[in-house]
Amino acid sequence: MPAGPLTGRIRVPGDKSISHRALMFGALAVGRSRISGLLEGEDVLATASALRSMGAVIEKDGQDWIVDGVGVGTLLQPEQALDMGNSGTSTRLLMGLLASHGIPATFIGDASLSRRPMGRVIDPLSTMGASFTPSPGGTLPLAMEGMQPAVPITYRLPVASAQVKSAVLLAALNTPGITTVIEPVPTRDHTERMLRSFGVDVQVEDRDGERAISVHGPCDLRPNDIVVPGDPSSAAFFAVAASIVPESDLVIENVGLNPTRNGIYRALREMGANIEYLEQREVGGEPVADLHVRHAPLSGIEVDPAIAPSMIDEFPVLFVAAAFAEGTTVTSGLEELRVKESDRLSAMAIALKSAGAQVEEKGDGLVIEGSGGRPLSGGGTIVTHLDHRIAMSMAVAGLASENGVEIDSTEPIGTSFPNFMNLLTEAAS
Ligand code: S3P
Repeated sequence: MPAGPLTGRIRVPGDKSISHRALMFGALAVGRSRISGLLEGEDVLATASALRSMGAVIEKDGQDWIVDGVGVGTLLQPEQALDMGNSGTSTRLLMGLLASHGIPATFIGDASLSRRPMGRVIDPLSTMGASFTPSPGGTLPLAMEGMQPAVPITYRLPVASAQVKSAVLLAALNTPGITTVIEPVPTRDHTERMLRSFGVDVQVEDRDGERAISVHGPCDLRPNDIVVPGDPSSAAFFAVAASIVPESDLVIENVGLNPTRNGIYRALREMGANIEYLEQREVGGEPVADLHVRHAPLSGIEVDPAIAPSMIDEFPVLFVAAAFAEGTTVTSGLEELRVKESDRLSAMAIALKSAGAQVEEKGDGLVIEGSGGRPLSGGGTIVTHLDHRIAMSMAVAGLASENGVEIDSTEPIGTSFPNFMNLLTEAAS
């Protein structure tokens, strides 16, 4: 039997992208920063322990975290390999940070992370002077040595990636001169926003319709107090669950709605989802609202590929919404999904099919024929490939399926949303 409606009020944990950056910038400031609302997921904790091994003091203080930073240019050489677990963001941003510090380091990770491409950060960071010895194919385990002083560059992003943009901007902080990243398509701008709040002069200008982001290094970061808003990517699982489970009426409090992140809510509304933004406000320099989500019949749409960067992590759960919509949903331009924690196009096509959905996998997207609001049969066992978002998306699909779904491992969920299962049980009971 499908689950009962999702009701009441819930609060999702802090934003993963913002949490990583808060720790890193805190470690680069001289003095004490305080972070409230930090996501205590494994990915963010991997960043914290890497920064500790380079000299920062990072501790929990009541509900908050405090970071005593070492300053730009004075990171210590880590004594052991930096274990990044499952976290691509930790790896790529820290590679950027180290690229302009004259110290060697080795990065290792789990099986999923060890398959992910690092060439996209190695290329610009090598041009700045850092040297890299990756495994064959440009993956982890990888040894690197930073260059001090590094060479400033102007770099146009060949892929829409906030991780690559941020890696170059982090390297720029200890690079004398002006480093510029040009992004043809805007990606999440948390690095730019937060660097400014740490006192860095980040210049953003329009160059022929593209965003040019410049930092004049070396920079001093002043300690800062940061409030991390709730993660829109985590809230999306609940927004879809409440949309597809009949009679749901749920409030998700304190959700970040940065325009470079809120594509999922725009897409869901286009499908007919009933999502209201309540109490719109600013938290930690980011737009935030409480989301009021009520069950509503969804319709299939053609998703404009231009929206992809603003919802790049939310496609797995959008595919779930599409599987319960009336009519066909067509997605395209999503090659990047193949190099996330898993190949998310293939993993979701297989997972949804095994739960009884009609899905066709294309090279760059999925085409999904929705059930028209009827429950899927469910029953299959889902292979998550160490990917938290496959596990959570399919748990949501299971709620609205006759026989539920079985997930091979819920362990990966701890990387980004440790209390997901508890919150889901709480909201659905
Ligand atoms: C992130 C950027 C995105 C996203 C990831 C977090 C970030 O990756 O998928 O979960 O914090 O900068 P890409 O930059 O590879 O698209």
